[in-house]
Amino acid sequence: MINREIHAVGLDIGTSKVRCLIGEPSEGGKMNIVGIGQAESRGLRRGIVTTTDSVVESVRKAVEEAERVSGLEIQMATVNLSGEHLRGENKSGVVAVAGAGREISNEDVDRAVESASAMQLPAGWEIVDRLPQEFIIDGQDGIIEPIGMRGARLESRIHVVSSPSAGKQNIVKAIHRAGLEIENMMLEPLAAAQSALSDDDREYGCALVNIGAEVTSLMIFGRGAVQHTAVFPFGGLHLTKDIAHGLRVSIPEATNIKHSYGCVAGFLMSEEERQSIIEITPVGRQEKRQLSKEILCDIMQPRAVELLQHIAHEVFSNRGQISSGVVLTGGGALSRGMVEIAEQVFDAPTRLGFLEQKHFGGLLDEVQSPEWAVAGGLALASLRTQIREHSTGGKSPTRKVAEWFENFRGKFR
Ligand SMILES: Nc1ncnc2c1ncn2[C@@H]1O[C@H](COP(=O)(O)OP(=O)(O)OP(=O)(O)O)[C@@H](O)[C@H]1O
Ligand SMILES: [Mg+2]
Repeated sequence: MINREIHAVGLDIGTSKVRCLIGEPSEGGKMNIVGIGQAESRGLRRGIVTTTDSVVESVRKAVEEAERVSGLEIQMATVNLSGEHLRGENKSGVVAVAGAGREISNEDVDRAVESASAMQLPAGWEIVDRLPQEFIIDGQDGIIEPIGMRGARLESRIHVVSSPSAGKQNIVKAIHRAGLEIENMMLEPLAAAQSALSDDDREYGCALVNIGAEVTSLMIFGRGAVQHTAVFPFGGLHLTKDIAHGLRVSIPEATNIKHSYGCVAGFLMSEEERQSIIEITPVGRQEKRQLSKEILCDIMQPRAVELLQHIAHEVFSNRGQISSGVVLTGGGALSRGMVEIAEQVFDAPTRLGFLEQKHFGGLLDEVQSPEWAVAGGLALASLRTQIREHSTGGKSPTRKVAEWFENFRGKFR
């Protein structure tokens, strides 16, 4: 039966936009989108809070709009975790199975995970997520759910993501000041993957690249789990700044030009289009200037290629197997030609990542853009956690590990 009392809220606090998406359960495990709100974001740099008051105001605006659309009042949200300093590492830990009959218990798994993630962190850093890759029992690898199996030696392989604590604390403070509780925080690319990747993508290997305004995050999936995470301090704003600089226009004007006429792949334009003229107003001038679309593309293309090459280098130097290709999300992916250029740079099939119809319904048409992948994924993760908690009758401390593990599996379904 569908529990109409459950509401899930995804809150994506980005450097350029704050987005809020409210969903409720629907048939077949889908989520109906019932509220959406968006506001210009102020007070962040590269995903990190610089002015709390401004962030509070943007969050309130986005949330109020989503509340108005849905007719609901929300108290709690699942929020994105971002920042250029996030770092992912693969770790492993081994323990001897303690119990009678050598049946692996919650506690054994807990110890194996603890032993894998016991690591020295720089001062002021913390572990923000631990994503299991696999368990190995007496040399047998590829085990996903070890509890109840028999064995003497249990090894866990975990992808551990860490970051400076201050970034997270400041976001938490801003959200509380906006009057909301935090249900959970989720890595931005992991949330985008929830919306846009299929089980096959995760199994056969794929690179999810979320291109924001100032931050681009990469997560490589393979064998059903996260294999690598990296964050780069660049995004769509770099293209805007190049346009502003090259054409001597203001940042808002450059943003308009980029969104209306921008293209990062010259080979997509016909000769006629190349020569077609656009009008711009240089800073401090009254009269307009004319330029061809070709010149605009000549400014944008090299930068887009450069940014994608950085990301591709990271993928290949980590021996990322990406048979399922590359999935681009985030507003920065919307520049015309980005998919085609990425396809060449990565030498792999590339597509834009959207909120998949098999997971989402309701107001889906309003958010059918890669910009909404993160907010949608956050809400979907929250919905699944809540449904699980309802069906198991709430949390019990003894089931900590099992639950943590379930949450993890849930992230991937
Ligand atoms: N139609 C479009 N064409 C080209 N670029 C676009 C388009 N729409 C949005 N963008 C760009 O996408 C970027 C914003 O993407 P997004 O909203 O995903 O970022 P964010 O989440 O606010 O920031 P971040 O993730 O970096 O903190 C901006 O640089 C914007 O100019
Ligand atoms: Mg973002």
